[in-house]
Amino acid sequence: MTQTKNIVWHDSVVTKQDRSKQNNHQSPVLWFTGLSGSGKSTITVELEKALFEKGIRSYRLDGDNIRHGLNNNLGFSPEDRKENIRRIGEVAKLLNDAGLITLTAFISPYRQDRDNVRKLLADGEFIEVYVKCSLEKCEARDPKGLYQKARAGEIKGFTGIDAPYEEPEHPELVIDTENKSVDEAVAEIIAYLETRNYI
Ligand code: ADX
Repeated sequence: MTQTKNIVWHDSVVTKQDRSKQNNHQSPVLWFTGLSGSGKSTITVELEKALFEKGIRSYRLDGDNIRHGLNNNLGFSPEDRKENIRRIGEVAKLLNDAGLITLTAFISPYRQDRDNVRKLLADGEFIEVYVKCSLEKCEARDPKGLYQKARAGEIKGFTGIDAPYEEPEHPELVIDTENKSVDEAVAEIIAYLETRNYI
């Protein structure tokens, strides 16, 4: 339940627009979604590096990292995943206001949860990037050995095995990591941001 009674919003004098002008770029949220092992973390790490080298201020939020701290009280039930994404959505909104480009790498398997984050942000500030890779391929990669554990019944409710992944219906970008290299993916995303004057 939300508990915002007796709490009054206090605006800053420095606005998001001021920060955007000073940075010389906008601050969209690039929301990467896809199966475990699809390549979300790998792409966001390289994208962050490429943006940094261009002098663009960005920050990466990654499922495995955030679950060590801010969200270390959450598991993988549908309710916990919803809360995981809700909190990350709120953090992304703060970074959006702070003038940073946010790169999020969470499975975020539920369409509704992702759409709720989209609604938190102004039009055009939520860029859904579907990191597309078949379950077969993700399972063959199995970088953390988790698919093997899930198949052996050692992990219950693993996305793609015995928990759902709902594909985005209208993502702004689809990156097919079975047919595209990391460098190609990064170049495509940067071109998207440049063409639309985000950067
Ligand atoms: S999300 O579903 O809530 O968006 P998130 O991206 O934060 O998930 O965390 C996913 C990571 O947690 C996976 O890459 C994997 O390393 C690990 N993990 C552990 N248990 C599970 C599980 N049951 N389902 C999916 N990922 C899991």
